[in-house]
Amino acid sequence: MQTGPAKPLLRALAGEALSSPPWWLMRQAGRYLPEYREIRAKAADFVELCLTPLLAAELTLQPIRRYGMDGAILFSDILMLPHALGQKLAYHEGEGPVLERIEDPAGVARLNLERVGSTLDPVCEAARRVRGALDSRTTLIGFAGAPWTVATYMVEGGGSRDFRRVKSWAYRDPQAFGALIDLLTEATIEYLTGQIEAGVEVAQLFDSWAGILPEPAFVRWVIEPTGRIVTGLKRRFPNYPVIGFPRGAGMLYERYLRETGVDGIGIDTAVPPRYGRQTLQPLGTVQGNLDPVLLIAGGAALEEAVLGLRRILGRGPYIFNLGHGVLPETPPENVQALARLLAEPMDA
Ligand code: CP3
Repeated sequence: MQTGPAKPLLRALAGEALSSPPWWLMRQAGRYLPEYREIRAKAADFVELCLTPLLAAELTLQPIRRYGMDGAILFSDILMLPHALGQKLAYHEGEGPVLERIEDPAGVARLNLERVGSTLDPVCEAARRVRGALDSRTTLIGFAGAPWTVATYMVEGGGSRDFRRVKSWAYRDPQAFGALIDLLTEATIEYLTGQIEAGVEVAQLFDSWAGILPEPAFVRWVIEPTGRIVTGLKRRFPNYPVIGFPRGAGMLYERYLRETGVDGIGIDTAVPPRYGRQTLQPLGTVQGNLDPVLLIAGGAALEEAVLGLRRILGRGPYIFNLGHGVLPETPPENVQALARLLAEPMDA
């Protein structure tokens, strides 16, 4: 008699504590893999790579073939949404993404919600292909950037050191900035709906820059839009699991988990595992939070850290992951070592 979900990652998200935790790694497809670099070198540009279903599907599957993670994250990027809204976007070698800056209501007015569905259809097509290729125990993970983090790139025109532009706009004119956040919230619901209809089984919202806001702004620009996305998705797809990753949220993780309605919470490397066990796991499934640099270091340090996380977080509903993405310098054999460590049974 089958009652709950059968796939380990979905069982963990439904609240089960598994004897070896299901795992996947943020940025598990990427430059640390020689087979990624080979395809990347042939692509004219990164946006085109993300929007070519055959290649995006292949890149999604590369780490699964090597390591057999429990989750396959769709190969794409959080900035495909601004691209689809009509904002100019380019990825420059070695300096990250560059966008044409948006800084006022006229900039928001130039964005076009109508084109999102058709522009991002190749991402959904990639999802369809991957879902058809995965075995019965591997979960397909879809994702989007959360509105706040996507807005930081749109307003700063790329990465930033102090986020002066986006923060001062949000503080000075919350109404106008709120129009951008509302538009992104709506576009994200539509985008994730398309991914879900294409076969994605869980959605993760990356809020990489959640941790730079004081509490009232965090509530308004992180918790509220995320909550609206979760509600919007669950209205159409009841019980559909969502993972939130408000990186750097610190003391606000608990409030985020209580108020957004996410099923799982990604924790960054600075969150003490015991806090995850005691405070967060009673409220949801915890995902994280190995330091990505330990995956570069490898050896006994990696072993000890993985064991430590399993001893504490493995007692509750837990998905093993890093506290942030895999770094390009990571030796692929250390990911193999990690896969072996996670498969080992734990003594009581
Ligand atoms: O996790 C995966 O394997 C799926 C694919 C994925 C990518 N980006 C591919 C990518 C995911 C989930 C993302 C999320 C993403 N993208 C985030 C949130 C997570 C985080 O890192 O905080 C953010 C902030 C972005 C925006 C972005 N994309 C930046 C800042 C950069 C440049 C810096 C960098 O790390 O290269 C990218 C480019 C990018 N996205 C690459 C990949 C594989 C590298 C492109 C290349 O080959 O040069």
